[in-house]
Amino acid sequence: MTDKATLTIGDKSYDLPILKGSTGPDVVDVRKFYGDSDHFTFDPGFTSTASCESKITFIDGDAGILLHRGYPIGQLAEESSFLEVCHLLLNGELPSADEFTKFERNITYHTMLHAQFDTFFQGFRRDAHPMAVMTGAVGALSAFYADSLNVDDPKQREISAHRLIAKMPTIAARAFQYSQGRPFVTPRNELSYSENFLRMCFSVPAEDWVPNPVLTRAMDRIFILHADHEQNASTSTVRLAGSSGAHPFACIAAGIACLWGPSHGGANQEALEMLEEIGTVENIPAFVQGVKDKKYKLMGFGHRVYKNFDPRATVMQKTCYEVLEQLGINDPLLHVAMELEKVALSDPYFIDRKLYPNIDFYSGITLRAMGFPKEMFTVLFALARTVGWISQWKEMFEDPSRKIGRPRQLYTGATQRDYVPVDKRG
Ligand code: CMC
Repeated sequence: MTDKATLTIGDKSYDLPILKGSTGPDVVDVRKFYGDSDHFTFDPGFTSTASCESKITFIDGDAGILLHRGYPIGQLAEESSFLEVCHLLLNGELPSADEFTKFERNITYHTMLHAQFDTFFQGFRRDAHPMAVMTGAVGALSAFYADSLNVDDPKQREISAHRLIAKMPTIAARAFQYSQGRPFVTPRNELSYSENFLRMCFSVPAEDWVPNPVLTRAMDRIFILHADHEQNASTSTVRLAGSSGAHPFACIAAGIACLWGPSHGGANQEALEMLEEIGTVENIPAFVQGVKDKKYKLMGFGHRVYKNFDPRATVMQKTCYEVLEQLGINDPLLHVAMELEKVALSDPYFIDRKLYPNIDFYSGITLRAMGFPKEMFTVLFALARTVGWISQWKEMFEDPSRKIGRPRQLYTGATQRDYVPVDKRG
């Protein structure tokens, strides 16, 4: 096995070290390449570029494998809990019983928001998209929790991480309740993370809220499935924002903004809207033809990394069936989704391009059945992904080789020219 690559430009050759990970592709280290050769490498969508070293999440897209700290996502989703996965991502290991008790208590006792923070929501229009509220509100946390903004202090980094994981459900639930014109619900310390969140979203003063264990488990599993996903667009945004030394509340707000896009976290909302637009099974062939004619994309299908089944989609589909069965819902859109999946998976257009259902294909139907409006789907994704973002942010800060992120470019604009006064311009 060679430990270097050689790149030849004209009559000069450059040796580039090859670095090995614990699994997955080796990487060609081009860090000194520009200094040695006066050339940049060019990779706008990062399709061949590793932007950092990480020990958190591993994906083998061809094999459909997703591991968090080595543990397969299927095992975590079936056997673990979201808070346990949070500990795993953040600290590197599954917690012992004592560690878990302490961690759970720490998160639980940070769920409340500063009372003045509640007035902040009133500044938004009631019909504001809850992701707009999330972006603003999470950024504003820094104005309320200024005692944990020193990024060079590991204790403050830890407190900020716990605050973010703990307060996201409270903020997300308030964004939802505000949009519905309902009063805010205070978190309860005796409830689990996911149960607490559901209660804060759906409880009203007029009647007692009754927990449903199947829905609580489904919510927890959906959070696990979205907890982290390697160096995706929003995580890379968080890392890039953090590379300047920005505090975590600002970085996570940047991540939320990036997640909002329809190619990323916004796809679950778009996937459900697509199913609604198709409406009935009879309309599928015409819709698929439109995809093949490149008029629009099949939302909830395809992935930059997975060129095989998205392992999260398998668990999501199972969760979808469980939730609909528990609630006794016979959703016609589920039939449309199942038939659409079948048609797409047997069509050469999708087979040749290795397009399979991703996590978003079934998450919309599930969340809608649980009572969430479409606008909340990406908010739930943001809530769950916060632990991934903050774990990656923390890892970056602990890396002694951390440098401010500063990509270069292939410049194709005008070369140097002289300024011409306006009366002399042709
Ligand atoms: N429907 C139809 N055609 C598609 C789709 C799709 N969903 N996705 C990719 N293609 C085609 C694309 O047009 C291209 O065809 P051609 O070779 O003829 O030009 C080919 O497949 C390769 O696509 P690409 O654009 O190079 O793939 P990418 O890796 O840049 O894009 C993606 C990945 C997720 C942005 C894209 O598959 C997509 O837009 N999917 C729909 C949105 C979606 O479901 N996003 C959720 C991703 S999972 C949640 C998350 O992690 O955020």
